[in-house]
Parts: sequence; C-alpha cells; structure tokens
Amino acid sequence: MDKKVGLPSVKQPPKIRVRPLQLAIVFFAILYSLANFLLWPKSRLETLPINAQAIVAQCRALYLTPGPPDDFQSRMHSDRFVKGTKPTLIRNATIWTGLDDGNEVIQGDIFLDKGLVKKVGTFDLRSYRGVEVLDAAGAWVSPGIVDMHSHLGVDSAPELNGASDTNSLKGLALPWLRSLDGLNTHDEAYRLSISGGVTTANVLPGSADAIGGQAFVIKLRPTAERSSSAMLLEPPFSLNGTHVDAFQRPRWRQMKHACGENPSSVYAGTRMDTQWAFRQAYNTARIIKEKQDAYCSKALAGQWTGLGDFPEDLQWEALVDVLRGRVKVHNHCYEDVDIDGMVRLTNEFKFSIAAFHHAHEAYMVPDLIKKAYGHPPAVAMFATSARYKREAYRGSEFAPRILADNGLDVSDHPVLNSRHLIYEAQQAHYFGLPANLALASVTSTPARVMGQDHRIGRIIEGFDADIIVWDSHPLALGAAPKQVFIDGIAQLEKPYTSVKPKSAQHAPTTPNFDKEIAEAIKYEGLPPLEPEKAKSDVVVFRNVGSIFLKNPATRLVDEVFMSASADGVVVVEKGQIVCSGTQTACLTALSRSEALHLNLEGGSIFPGLISYGSPLGLTHIASEPSTGDGSVFDPLRSQVPPIIDGTAIKAADGLLFGTRDALLGYRSGVTSAITSPDGGFLMGLSSVFSTVAANKLADGAVIQELAALHVAVSLSSRVSVSTQIATLRGLLLGEGKDDISRRFGDVVAGKIPLVVHADSADVIASLLLLKKEVEAAAGTPIRLTLAGATEAHLLAKEIGQAGVGVIVHQRPFPTTWEERRILPGPPLTQTSAIAALVAHNVTVGISIEEPWSARNTRFDLAWVMHHIRSTAGLESNGALGRAEVLALASSNLETLLGVEESNTDLVATRGGVDFDGKVVAIISPLSESVNLI
Ligand SMILES: *[C@@H]1O[C@H](CO)[C@@H](O)[C@H](O)[C@H]1NC(C)=O
Ligand SMILES: *[C@@H]1O[C@H](CO)[C@@H](O)[C@H](O)[C@H]1NC(C)=O
Ligand SMILES: *[C@@H]1O[C@H](CO)[C@@H](O)[C@H](O)[C@H]1NC(C)=O
Repeated sequence: MDKKVGLPSVKQPPKIRVRPLQLAIVFFAILYSLANFLLWPKSRLETLPINAQAIVAQCRALYLTPGPPDDFQSRMHSDRFVKGTKPTLIRNATIWTGLDDGNEVIQGDIFLDKGLVKKVGTFDLRSYRGVEVLDAAGAWVSPGIVDMHSHLGVDSAPELNGASDTNSLKGLALPWLRSLDGLNTHDEAYRLSISGGVTTANVLPGSADAIGGQAFVIKLRPTAERSSSAMLLEPPFSLNGTHVDAFQRPRWRQMKHACGENPSSVYAGTRMDTQWAFRQAYNTARIIKEKQDAYCSKALAGQWTGLGDFPEDLQWEALVDVLRGRVKVHNHCYEDVDIDGMVRLTNEFKFSIAAFHHAHEAYMVPDLIKKAYGHPPAVAMFATSARYKREAYRGSEFAPRILADNGLDVSDHPVLNSRHLIYEAQQAHYFGLPANLALASVTSTPARVMGQDHRIGRIIEGFDADIIVWDSHPLALGAAPKQVFIDGIAQLEKPYTSVKPKSAQHAPTTPNFDKEIAEAIKYEGLPPLEPEKAKSDVVVFRNVGSIFLKNPATRLVDEVFMSASADGVVVVEKGQIVCSGTQTACLTALSRSEALHLNLEGGSIFPGLISYGSPLGLTHIASEPSTGDGSVFDPLRSQVPPIIDGTAIKAADGLLFGTRDALLGYRSGVTSAITSPDGGFLMGLSSVFSTVAANKLADGAVIQELAALHVAVSLSSRVSVSTQIATLRGLLLGEGKDDISRRFGDVVAGKIPLVVHADSADVIASLLLLKKEVEAAAGTPIRLTLAGATEAHLLAKEIGQAGVGVIVHQRPFPTTWEERRILPGPPLTQTSAIAALVAHNVTVGISIEEPWSARNTRFDLAWVMHHIRSTAGLESNGALGRAEVLALASSNLETLLGVEESNTDLVATRGGVDFDGKVVAIISPLSESVNLI
C-alpha cells in the first residue's frame, strides 16, 4: 500500500530497484563524469572529487524505496534462525492463514524449519529427520499476533523509577531519539504477552512529545545474545553506523508522532504550540532534503563544480527520511480537530502517516482521513477503552466496525496489557467487526501498516515461523494459546492443555447492533443511553436457555432452570417474576393478551451484576478533575484541614448520576455499583448506588448509603508501610478521633467490613496478623476484605483459614513491584488466582480498575467461565459452576462489601453462550417494570 510514496520529485531520475540496472546506472554516471574529465578544459580537472563514486552511490541510495530484497521470498532460512532449533510439524490444524482478505481457512499441517514456515497444507516429509511433532487435533492455528502500538521494554513491568524510558521531556520535536536505547530486556511483560500470542511488537516512544522519536520493531522471544539489538526485526541498516550498501533497498523505519492533549499538557502549551513544533521540525527537514536533492541532481548530472560536501545533519536525517517516504509514521491522535491538523501538515510537507493511533474520533471523519497526503492512514484503536479523557469521551465501541475499510489494530501496551490483544479483537468482533477483519486487525493489518508483511502477519510458505496454536477459535472469549512459536521456537515450556466445548470452536455469532451504530454516528459519539420502559405491565421472555436467581436465604446464586433446547419461559408482571420454567408450567400466564413477548434465542436471565473497584459514579471523565468528585485528603501525607479532621468521608456525598460509564454498564447488565472515595490511606466509606438512576433523589438511586470502611496499604505510598500498618492498628484499637473512631469501632464490632486495598503478600500477611491481634483485644471477629490483592494467591490457605474475603482483578498484571508475583493463569499456569483462592474456600469477588470497563463485567465472567470449564476435570480443585461464577460479580461482592439489601434487578440476554449475549432487558422489581435496552 505504500508503494506510491517515496518517489523523488520529477527532476529525479527514474526509480531503480534491480541491482544490475543500478550498477549500470552508476557505471554510466561515472563514465559521464569521466567523459567530462577528458573532454572538458583543464579547469574541470580539480573539480571531480576523489569520492565521486561514493557520492553518486549515496545520491542513488536516497531514492530507493524501502522493502525487502527482490529475492527475499526465496530465502532458505530466516536471519533470526537460531542454530539447533529442531524442525517442527504441526499436524492436523485448522489454519487461518490471513490470505483471501482473512477468509482462507486450510485444514492441514504446517511445517516449520530454519525459522520459517516451510510448508502449509498437505505434503510429504520423508526427507526430514528429527522432526518434533505437535498434534493440533484440529485446533485453530493463526499467525502470531503483531502489536503495532507497544511500549514493551521502555515502559517496563514492574514500574520502577530506574526504568521509565518512554518519554524524553527535552523538547517537543525529537526525531533523533530511538526507543531502542531504552529497551529493557527484563520487562516481565515479554513472557506474559507471548503467552497471549503476541510475537512481534512495534516499540514506540510515548506521547509526551509531538515527535517522540524513532520506534523499533521487535520479536518478543528471549535471545541467546540477551541484548536489546538482538530482539530487533529488520532494523535499518544505518542503525549501527556500518557502511550502507547503496544498492540495497533500505528497510522500513518507524517513528512516533503525537498530537492533542499529551504534548500540550506536558509542556503546559496548547494544540497551537504542538502544531507549530511539527511545522518547525518539518521545515528544518524540508530545507535539508531540498539541499540534498539539488546536490544530488547536480552530482548525478556530473556537475561537480563547487559542489562541496553532501548536505546532511544527523539530528534531522530521520525526519528527512520521513519526507522521502521511507518511514512509517505512527501518530497518536484522537480528536477530529487534531486529525484535521495532521492531515493539513501532511499536505503542507508532503509526507504520509502510516496510522492514526487511538483515534477515538476517527470514525466520525473517514473522508477527512482520506485527504491525508499519499494514502489514508490506518486507524489503530482500543475496542472499548474510552471516556478516560476529553479526547476519548466520544469514543465508540462501534468505531472499528465503522472504520473497517481503513484497517485497524487495537492496543497500547502497557496501557492495555498486550497479552490480551486478542481480547480487543474479540470485542471489536462482538460489536460488529466481521471475523476476518477482526483477526486481521491483530495480525496481517498491523504487519502491512508497519511494512513487515513480506514476512509476518500471515501463514505463508517462506514467512517467519511465528505461529499460535489456540485452544478455541481465537475470537471466542477466553481463547488461550496452547503453544506459541517465534522464529520456529516453541515459547511455552509445556503446551497448555484445555478442553473447550464445541461451541467455542467457531467464531461466535454476534448480536445485531445496527441501531446503535447509526446512533453513534448521528449523535457524534454521545447517543442517549437511558433505557425505555416496557409499555406493557406483563412481559413474557421466551426461548430462555437458563435462569439464575439469588437465594435470599443463602445469599448465593442458584441455577434454577437450564434447558439445552432453550424452551424456557419467564413471565414478569410489574417487575416481578410470576412464573418461570417450561411452557407447560406457565400456560395460564402465557395466555395474557396484553403481554409483550421477547424472544431470548437461548439467552439467560440472571441477577443484575455489580461493579466494584473503579471510581464509577464519582467521575464523568477520569482525567478531568472538574468532572468528578476528586481525591480525599490523605492524613498520612498532608495536613487535613482542621474543620474536616476526624471525619470519615462518604462516597455517597460525592455521587454523580447519569455518567456514560454507569449507563453503559447498565445496558450491559451492571445494574448497581459500589464505590469508595478515591485516594489516600484512609479512603472512607463506600456506597451502593443504581447505575441507571437519573439523580440522587430518584427512587432507588442510593441503594445503601454506607457499605464498608476502606483503607489502602501500599509500598508505593510515600509513607512507609510500617507507618501505614501502625496507623491502622491505632485506629482499630480506638486511637482515632470523632467520626473516624466511631467507624473503626463499627469495624471492630463486626458491624461493617473493613476493606483494605493491598497487593503485596507481605502486607497481606501483616494484615492477617493485625486482624488476629485486634480480635484478641476486642473479643469479636472482624469482617476483613482484601481488595486488589494481586499476590493473595500466595497466602490462599492462610486467607481461607482467617475467614478473609478477597476481591481481585480477573486478569492480573505486574504493574508495580508489590504486584509482581501474579499467578498469570492459562496458558502459563493451569490454575488462576481466582481458582486458587476458591480452592481454599475464600469468598472471591472480581473488580475492575477504570470506570469504562464496568460494561465488560459480563465478558470478565464469561472468561472465568470458559477457563474454569476448560480445565474442569484436569484439576481437582477450584472448579466453579456457572452460578458460582455469576456470584463473583454479584452476591459475593455484596457479602464482601457489606451490602445488606440485595439488589433484586434481573438481566435478560438474547443469544450467546453463557453471559456474552446481548442484554435486551432489565427486570426491575423496585420500579415495578421492565426496562428495554
Ligand atoms: C484431526 O483432529 C480431529 C479432532 O481431534 C479428528 O477428528 C480427526 O480425525 C483428525 N484428523 C486427522 C487426519 O488426524
Ligand atoms: C550492524 O548492523 C548490521 C545490519 O543489521 C548487522 O549485519 C551487523 O552485524 C551489525 N554490526 C554490529 C557490530 O552490530
Ligand atoms: C472448604 O469447605 C468445604 C465444605 O465446607 C470443606 O469440605 C473443605 O475441606 C474446605 N476446604 C479447605 C481447603 O478448607
């Protein structure tokens, strides 16, 4: 797609690719010079420089377009082949090759040798010896995942001050910087991302600068050299200063650009400043390029008089190369205003952008994007991560579908853990992106956009042996690699064994979102989200596949109905179930003439889900202080104003209703949320609220004003852990003041739970001891819940024995030191943290981190469900039924967070296995109605 760019201006000689022809031209250029020398008067004699040949070669090289050598496809081994790697035969695979626009699927074998895919399909291997055989038994196989937007190695896990190499703050335009210079070879995330199938990543500088520097493409596997450079895929020849072969086509380079909020805010400037920084930098590069072109047109014409030295500048050479069309520009750019500015810039300076990244508003302006110079940039974006800042406020989950023609990729590791890049593709697919394009979006599309599609992104004979063997269709929620090959080397020590149901072996059927898609465009990303009340008092749900209800006595979720033939019926009158089960059981109710009938097509009815862990309900736009409640005073770090000192802050006082994240949560089955005040050691008191209520005075808006008392103990606090624990001990032993003392008294008396946000196993151990100590002093048991609790699995037994509950993230990541000992789950470990805790009888809930992900709670549950099911029978403990999985985000959270009045809403989904169908209605006993979505 980039073949058109990079041609020299009309004055330049024609573009040459074939080596003999190039040789011939250089030969004739020299001959021409020689002729000048011989035929012209003596004065010319001094002017032919001694290095004329080198200059001519250098000038010729300027106009070569990047790409592989012409004989690349006939290579016999990969330049990344590791000697001693055994050939591997993957037998009996269902191969998604990426060919035919992502529609080709081959049933057959794949042979990997010399770091390459040697054969695909049906073939005879009799001539080979010592072949490793992996029987895929029909499993799906795809190319390795290509991550076009990564900060792997430069923004390493765990985060430490000694390793923050994402951004330089030495100026707005720094095209001379190279991400490679910060590429840490010990980032914990390489191994994790590989376990999610990521084999190649484009490591970009961050977005603090307009021009942050050059990006480098790496393969993620460990290397024998253990060096940063050894990870590179096709680095530019000029990288280490070795002599550049003037006849060889250069390799594609990559560069980061950013517009909008980030560069503006970092430099306390505005969009105008950023845009000027771009223009100033590009103008500098343009002047150098024009000098070079003028110089070279003379040199190539043999006009040596007064020519002098070749004009160049090491600082600007990379940006000059952008103007020559030899660099893939990756442009972090969200809003229409910024996209417009960049499109203008490309036309002013005549360069192309490979992709707009993040680009949350791109779906509103496809025609504008098509006006970019050269070719329309691809659009790389998140699937559902949005609204975290103004630039993302109008983001739509339907953007990938709307932009489908423009290609897309979906990541920003570690902003989103790239281990789960395939999950982004799954969500894009759920929201309407066709399966072939969804798979391409994380494989062949990014490979093409990065100029690497001659070797990665598809399964073709002669391509790099980067292959994933999946345990289900890769677009099925919870898909996990059984094995990942990079350069033909198996990356998982042991292939992962799991048994997924047949239903997971094909691309999921996705709901119809045509109406929502039209509204996203019509309302520029802000469609109304309020549900509509069913007009009839009686609603009949037909073709119900399963029904789950909370048992008021046990507070557990029970599966009360399950039918493989999906012939269940639920009749609701004024928001109450009057009859449920088989048709025959509900005959009288079914005949109600005024009833509204809804066909669930095998879907489920289950208790309204609860969201916990993010500031949902306390903010509209997380990074905009003026749109939210803000942070509480931290008594350990700053002086609390005397007027408020001694008061425990209540989230209920700061609740905001009608936030888009809450409403999107509601539309996805999350009917209530529990939120605590944000920040500090002593966070305050959490509240339970409805995600659909219009304001605090509406019926049922605040479900429970006070739920639990929350504190945080962290190694990342600037106050010592010992100080934090000592403070907590003092507060529990009655040393607090006023209201705070009263609240801790309630905790000690067992009236409300104490929720401690803690990740480190060492902190958790201290908390378990503190609990004992306080209980011994007070004589009553404390209800302690650990939130975050990333390392809790290390103490699962002790936590279980102490009767302490735990709320964890479904997909852990070692963001900080105190979270580094995660239990990663499949395929790296057979068991997950949730399963390990459940095995010790710990009551477990799941939490989210950011408000936008409340809407994905159903997916989180389905994910747990798929994992638990696939390993059931393989491990003796930790097996959860469907009802128990639902409880993780409903009744368990209520127990763990001190909710007394259980939420009675019920969610009805249409289609889909488990909980991943589309929510079509919420049954609300409180409002005596059914809300239609
Ligand atoms: C491929 O695997 C499937 C599923 O295990 C099996 O039914 C089929 O017989 C296998 N085919 C061959 C050629 O081994
Ligand atoms: C310099 O880079 C070239 C091209 O990538 C490579 O072949 C060569 O080995 C490198 N030299 C050193 C000293 O790293
Ligand atoms: C968990 O609880 C069950 C039922 O009460 C009991 O049989 C089992 O031993 C317990 N497991 C552990 C590890 O405590």
